[in-house]
Amino acid sequence: MLFDSFLVKNLKLDNRTVMAPMCMYESDENGLVNDFHVIHYATRAIGGVGLIIQEATAIDPDGRISVNDLGIWNDDHIDGLKMIVDTVHRYHCPIGIQINHAGRKARVEHKIAPSAIAFNDEKDLPVAMTEDMIERMVYQFREAAGRAHEAGYDLLELHAAHGYLLFQFLSPLSNKRDDQYKDGVIVLKKVIKAVRDVWPQDKALAIRVSAYEYVEGGITPEMIAKVLNEVKDLGIDLVDVSSGGNVIANIKAYPGYQLEFAKTIKKMTGLPVIGGGMIEDLRQAEQAIKDKSCDLVFYGRLLLRNPYYVINHAKDLNVEINYPKPYKRGQK
Ligand SMILES: Cc1cc2nc3c(=O)[nH]c(=O)nc-3n(C[C@H](O)[C@H](O)[C@H](O)COP(=O)(O)O)c2cc1C
Repeated sequence: MLFDSFLVKNLKLDNRTVMAPMCMYESDENGLVNDFHVIHYATRAIGGVGLIIQEATAIDPDGRISVNDLGIWNDDHIDGLKMIVDTVHRYHCPIGIQINHAGRKARVEHKIAPSAIAFNDEKDLPVAMTEDMIERMVYQFREAAGRAHEAGYDLLELHAAHGYLLFQFLSPLSNKRDDQYKDGVIVLKKVIKAVRDVWPQDKALAIRVSAYEYVEGGITPEMIAKVLNEVKDLGIDLVDVSSGGNVIANIKAYPGYQLEFAKTIKKMTGLPVIGGGMIEDLRQAEQAIKDKSCDLVFYGRLLLRNPYYVINHAKDLNVEINYPKPYKRGQK
């Protein structure tokens, strides 16, 4: 099952393992791609994952999580990003990109957010966005999507998880507005529509969500499923289910701890989902698919430790894979 192919829009995956988006903080202050990024992603492509989702890439320099984030806020970024895409493709792996604005979690002096509520420290107080600022952010998502298409990415993922700007609009803990944007879904709809204007209809559009905030009054899987049901017809093809990150919370993580959220969202929305979180082997991933918790399984830190995990462990599921020819003499 884990090694069955999977089709979403015009994107065909050879297996259902996904490299989760992970910020590497290895760019220069201009957000440009360098050798590290190309090598890092190409290595996981050789390692046999079914899909790579590139780390959160900033749509605005003031929306960066750190000054070393990758950027997609201007056309100068396209050539470097294309280098990642072309190299990963050469090793027969599709690649998506996660685009992001960090909002009140940005590492800049003048932060923006739906409401003037700090993430964790009063001196980090953000400015509540005006309608013009919201329109600008929507436009920046659209421009970033256009650049992602130009660079050749196979999938686009909107980062609406972990307490970054789109999620800040969705959560009642960070959105206390009294205008129409009190309903964060309105913002999300605008972003999806704008992005879909430039991101081709036959290309997959994913959204990463935090399905649970682990605190009273925060987002629950049922709430997120409702949001997704309101926006899915605008062109969402896949949901990448994560949790937490908008407020400080006590999260008891264990292997597969987010799979129940993925299952709820899959069931309530009918959309295909990527589930995961501390998945430590291929058997657990296979079981999650069998249980209908998710359609695809993401691996994060395990792939930082071992980029070749998938090719070296396919045998755990009695699967013969196409082992990379140059490495065959090392195959066990
Ligand atoms: C170094 C690092 C960077 C991360 N950066 C991102 C990111 O850019 N976007 C995102 O949605 N999640 C990010 N995450 C979360 C991962 O995508 C993943 O959800 C999390 O690590 C749990 O999966 P795992 O237990 O398999 O590592 C990051 C995690 C790590 C460890």
